Amino acid sequence: MILVTGGAGFIGANFVLDWFACEHEPVVNLDKLTYAGNLGSLSSLAGDERHVFVRGDIGDADLVRTLLERHRPRAVVNFAAESHVDRSIHGPAAFIDTNVVGTFALLDCVRAWWSEQPADERATFRFLHVSTDEVYGSLGPDDSAFSETTPYAPNSPYAASKASSDHLVRAYHHTYGLPTLTTNCSNNYGPRQFPEKLIPLMIVNALAGKPLPVYGDGRNVRDWLYVGDHCSAIRTVLAHGRVGETYNVGGNAERANIDVVRTVCRLVRERRPHVDCERLVTFVRDRPGHDRRYAIDATKIRRELGWTPAHTFETGLARTIEWYLDNGAWLASVQNAEYRQWVELQYA
Ligand code: NAD
Ligand code: DAU
Repeated sequence: MILVTGGAGFIGANFVLDWFACEHEPVVNLDKLTYAGNLGSLSSLAGDERHVFVRGDIGDADLVRTLLERHRPRAVVNFAAESHVDRSIHGPAAFIDTNVVGTFALLDCVRAWWSEQPADERATFRFLHVSTDEVYGSLGPDDSAFSETTPYAPNSPYAASKASSDHLVRAYHHTYGLPTLTTNCSNNYGPRQFPEKLIPLMIVNALAGKPLPVYGDGRNVRDWLYVGDHCSAIRTVLAHGRVGETYNVGGNAERANIDVVRTVCRLVRERRPHVDCERLVTFVRDRPGHDRRYAIDATKIRRELGWTPAHTFETGLARTIEWYLDNGAWLASVQNAEYRQWVELQYA
């Protein structure tokens, strides 16, 4: 079996669901259930014995040790993190606690347990760390896309905390020989994403007739990848990636934010003709330290492992909007008091 951390979050939940669609191996899913964790995203797995959910913290060494001894996973896939840049600006401490100290505790526990296993199991074991392109900093309009050799230059507390965790993973391979893999992916979108992130926020606000807040001039560029394609990239790297390597993952879909928002508006209106989104677009104060452009060069994962995304931005976004329109109960359940407080703090 494999141990997945953060498997009740956006990408982790999609990964677990896709895993069971493609593989037979059971999953132990360790998640703290922060505001971003949602067991409702995994409701289709109720009663499925292949899925063992454990509420807990990756920083809880006793719990992690117990899970490793009890389940003897052949791999750990680490999604658990604080993931929202704007929250890291308001309150960086949680990002240090989970992304730096928590990842360290998890790594160290896994290393101690792994080092006691028989040689053949040590050789096939994998620790896959899911990271981000934000560790590379910001690109100018004519700069080449981020490759695996681009120097790290994180600009937000979130990016700095992820960069720290990547360095720890690297060090645990280099120093102790732990068989690690790291993926650095661009912006994901798709079903089950918490509506603090750009695309689902625009969908929920459009449906509620609320302003669609676009930071600054709306010309910041992100490289978008459908979440299912990120999940297939992780499965590919887990199965075939070279130990100790990092792989950049991206959708080759650079878009300016304002163009993303206008496309969301058009797709929502095609399905809900009464929702006049365009007039809701509102330019608001910029995010402090807002990175201008991200772009991923995914040549390495394509050439070495044969991975390419199955979705274009247009097909992926259409599926995503369809999902949000069809899952009103999920969407209503995540817009709780804590969510409303966040929106008030960030956008008042
Ligand atoms: P998310 O915020 O939706 O989910 C994070 C999950 O981790 C939640 O279920 C939360 O409860 C859990 N968690 C948080 N702290 C924990 C802890 N201490 N112990 C155990 N569980 C904990 O995040 P996401 O968007 O699904 O991102 C998952 C991973 O992918 C993160 O590591 C993130 O840095 C990375 N990533 C995200 C994107 C993106 O666009 N969303 C892109 C590239 C990489
Ligand atoms: O690049 C990968 C990263 O993508 C992941 O590591 C992060 O976990 C994930 O949150 C995401 O980070 P971003 O900051 O790029 O995503 P976000 O959805 O917050 O913002 C996308 C762009 O949209 C960014 O340029 C900021 C802008 N934006 C965002 C929000 C929430 C707005 O203009 N208005 C908004 O209200």
